[in-house]
Amino acid sequence: MADTNKTAKLTIDGKDYELPILSPTSGPDVIDIRKLYAQAGVFTYDPGFTSTAACDSTITYIDGDKGELQHRGYSIEDLASKSHYLEVCYLLLYGELPTRAEMEKFETTITRHTMIHEQMHYFFRGFRRDSHPMATMVGVVGAMSAFYHDSTDVSDERQREVASHRLIAKMPTIAAMAYKYSIGQPFVYPRNDLDYAANFIHMCFAVPAEEYKVDPILARAMDRIFTLHADHEQNASTSTVRLASSSGANPFACIAAGIACLWGPAHGGANQACLEMLKEIGTVDRIPEFIARAKDKNDPFRLMGFGHRVYKNMDPRAIVMKESADEVLELLGVENNPLLQVAKELEKIALSDPYFIEKKLFPNVDFYSGIILEAMGFPTSMFTPIFALSRTVGWISQWKEQLGDPQMKIGRPRQLFLGEKLREYVPVDER
Ligand code: ACO
Repeated sequence: MADTNKTAKLTIDGKDYELPILSPTSGPDVIDIRKLYAQAGVFTYDPGFTSTAACDSTITYIDGDKGELQHRGYSIEDLASKSHYLEVCYLLLYGELPTRAEMEKFETTITRHTMIHEQMHYFFRGFRRDSHPMATMVGVVGAMSAFYHDSTDVSDERQREVASHRLIAKMPTIAAMAYKYSIGQPFVYPRNDLDYAANFIHMCFAVPAEEYKVDPILARAMDRIFTLHADHEQNASTSTVRLASSSGANPFACIAAGIACLWGPAHGGANQACLEMLKEIGTVDRIPEFIARAKDKNDPFRLMGFGHRVYKNMDPRAIVMKESADEVLELLGVENNPLLQVAKELEKIALSDPYFIEKKLFPNVDFYSGIILEAMGFPTSMFTPIFALSRTVGWISQWKEQLGDPQMKIGRPRQLFLGEKLREYVPVDER
């Protein structure tokens, strides 16, 4: 972030204040208001951070108007078609694509950390069988700090790295165990001869009674889902992780906070909500009714899987995901599934409807990822856990970046107080 020699002038009660303007590598300039309160005694007001940069970062860049997403300078289209998830993890964590030797070492490290402490199995068993897998994940990931004491000291760089590797490696195991537990099947241990995505599919769908072979096309589609969700700059869950970490909290606690935030239907929970909506719509002839509800100001209903805070053009991840969806549906021979017919028709209608066009509401990545995961056989309750495991590397990379930033301060937003002024306490029998 460079000074531009440009300044912004702010006039309050006839007094002028000059605010420095900083220039990013890409994206809009930023007005530096760090000294505003000290100089002018005012705060800024920006609920939802719609115009506020809360940190500087070198990891991910999004141009929402153009529909562009880049990690460390590489486009998501390139990464999704030429790279694979673990290589993207390396890129996000360390800033550069790995050499062959670096990649082999990283893959070996991650593979060797996939098992979880055996005692954690008992921890799982404390949850009700009908717990949502996200509820189990928030609890189990938070509990990792009780099992891996040797990687909770955030001031120790080596411990930070070990925690990063543990989280990336163990998250698929935890997500798969949460699923197996919820359906009453035995846990399936990770297999080191399978790659990251195939191992996850195996842990979810294999049973000890018979051999299960992972279809390479499905493993590739899974890997792509992981890659497309790996990071997305300062979204709600990432900002949650950063805020939690700003107090010096341990990495497992911070990632548990990120998982909790991701669960919401306006964020990672949208893929589950989207599939549930498609099921509720049920048949193509009912689509107009739901489109009308989405447009009705007095109805809180929204078309799930449509719209995005940042993308006001097609979400580039959605384009890649749509291709993957076509591939998977063809492989599984379910192109004529009624749910998918509803999804396709809904997409067509919404893309040509003036309401959605004017408000720049395009299908987002969750619209298509839900369709793929449903076709693969995952229940809707597993959609958000899969998003959480994919996003872990993004959270961890942003957490690592923040801890290495000499300017890091505890996050402490201000408020516009609209409550009562100081008043006298009235004893209960006088009220
Ligand atoms: N259906 C119908 N109308 C919508 C939708 C939608 N899905 N999304 C936004 N709008 C309308 C709003 O009603 C609003 O209309 P108005 O200007 O007349 O008041 C306008 O579009 C702008 O919407 P905001 O809520 O102000 O936009 P914001 O950037 O805050 O919200 C969000 C973005 C939360 C993603 C929103 O589009 C939404 O709720 N979408 C559905 C949930 C979803 O799919 N979330 C996944 C996001 S992607 C991800 O997390 C990976």
